[in-house]
Amino acid sequence: MKQRVIYILGLIFIILNSCNKDKVPEQTICSSEDVVSYSEDIEPLIQQQCLGCHDLGGGSGGYVFNGHDNVSSNASDMLDAMNANGLQLMPQNGPLNDSLINLFELWICQGKLNN
Ligand code: HEC
Repeated sequence: MKQRVIYILGLIFIILNSCNKDKVPEQTICSSEDVVSYSEDIEPLIQQQCLGCHDLGGGSGGYVFNGHDNVSSNASDMLDAMNANGLQLMPQNGPLNDSLINLFELWICQGKLNN
């Protein structure tokens, strides 16, 4: 009888522990059926909305967003600017559509792939 109680307690311990391991909140935010494409989604977005002022040679505020390297290394500042989160709102003439901001955030979340 005592053995059985210990066995059951052990089982409960294992179950609780394995549940804890599954709790990765970031995964829920990032999870999406679709993987965001840098070349098809992100690059055109930056080209249309940002490069007018942040192109090679004339990077406003010292920011240049040409190519995956530049975009991925500045991604968190770019997202903060899109949300006016401690930085100046970008683009300057008004916030982007929420769906575009969410797309950019999802791309960051999925690991800033160069795909
Ligand atoms: C119409 C021109 C223009 C466009 C379009 C534009 N920017 Fe800017 N951006 C600027 C200027 C000018 C500055 C520098 C402002 C300053 O230093 O006073 C700047 C600064 C920034 C900064 C630094 C902000 C800070 O508070 O330090 C970031 C980040 C940025 N831009 C990101 C973006 C992103 C991302 C986009 C596209 C979604 C974008 N910008 C589109 C003109 C623009």
